[in-house]
Amino acid sequence: MTIGIDKIAFYTPNYVLDLVALAKARGDEPDKYTIGIGQDHQAVVPNFEDVVTMGANAAAKIITHEDRDAIDEVIFATESGIDNSKSGALYIQQLLQLSEFIRTIEVKQACYAGTYALMQARDYVATHPGRRVLVIASDIARYGLETSGEVTQGAGAVAMIVSENPKIASINNDSVYMSRQVSDFWRPIDREEALVDGHLSTAIYKEMFLLLWQRYKQQNHLQINQFAGFAFHLPYTKMGKKALDQIMSEATAQQQQRLALNLTASQRFSREVGNLYTGSVYLSLLSLLSHAANLKAGEKLAIFSYGSGAEAELYSVTLQPGFENYVPAKLTQDMLLKRQTLSVGEYEVFFKAQHFNSHIDTKTDAITRSKTFQFLGWQDGERL
Ligand code: HMG
Repeated sequence: MTIGIDKIAFYTPNYVLDLVALAKARGDEPDKYTIGIGQDHQAVVPNFEDVVTMGANAAAKIITHEDRDAIDEVIFATESGIDNSKSGALYIQQLLQLSEFIRTIEVKQACYAGTYALMQARDYVATHPGRRVLVIASDIARYGLETSGEVTQGAGAVAMIVSENPKIASINNDSVYMSRQVSDFWRPIDREEALVDGHLSTAIYKEMFLLLWQRYKQQNHLQINQFAGFAFHLPYTKMGKKALDQIMSEATAQQQQRLALNLTASQRFSREVGNLYTGSVYLSLLSLLSHAANLKAGEKLAIFSYGSGAEAELYSVTLQPGFENYVPAKLTQDMLLKRQTLSVGEYEVFFKAQHFNSHIDTKTDAITRSKTFQFLGWQDGERL
């Protein structure tokens, strides 16, 4: 049975910050942000959106009546959870009006959890042919104003429907994975912003990619020339290049050119929104599918998922016949183009207002997109 990604969609809020303006405001060289780190814009989250509404907004783009009847599970991956007990998937079930006779669960391991969710979904469908799983990866990457991580903030959600005979890509049973307790990035339970050793985190990411690449080749008897492209977890777009450069010399000259071209294709959406934590690697996949005109059905893409703390997985997907007809390239590009650019001062106001248990500023509601789910706030500790 072939199982994999049948549909995929991305949602990000309507507000964006130009990183050249941020560099100037912070007294940094704009080239450091746009070339050295590889980010042009960053999504800014208004206080009437959170991981639940972003996740529901992403999923609403792809769910049909047919899916509603077949979805048995909602797996919600996030490290920006809104409750220490209750799964955000329950609110999403309610917003999307899904059946009560389903499973809803939230999973966490930094940016890696979206991949765990996808693998669980694949395994569920394998034992329940004909049934589907809704996987949502939704996060707000927050480091704090005037921190070195600020340029790598971002936000958004990726939703995927996993089914048999998928229209976009089958997930191959070739994963290699690893876990190691390391303090490169974490967020204690009482903090809204992450603590990070940025240079250590970059080094661990690169090391885990290299170790898993050697293991993957050994286990699956595949070489770099057999992949049409790589989709990396992209906390910032330069990270993908740093990882891939470590193994580029294994490819033929022609293949090096193709992989470099397709790496650029995979980075384009992330350059515009920043880090999505759990969703980033799947935004990179969506970007690759949306911008690489050279991809053909039957070809393999390698996916590298990394989550600080740290856990990583490397596996491949195979493109399905006609996959290009089901990739929402134009919809995603249009959503990004239509966003409203904030000044650095406006961004700082939005940033400070984006607090857990925050009051909702109804005046800003008027300028949000119509027909999207919005977060209404909390009353007596209960989410409205
Ligand atoms: P920094 O110290 O501000 O920057 O931290 P830097 O001094 O390292 O410079 C960055 C790059 O810009 C360097 O290039 C400079 O040479 C270059 P590199 O050597 O890295 O190739 N540069 C310039 N280039 C052109 N013109 C110039 C110029 N000046 C400098 N004028 C850092 C940067 C990314 C570390 C910081 O922003 C940070 O800590 N970010 C957050 C952590 C992060 O994103 N880590 C990535 C790996 S961990 C991960 O992926 C997991 C994560 O998503 C969390 C999770 O799993 O939940 C983060």
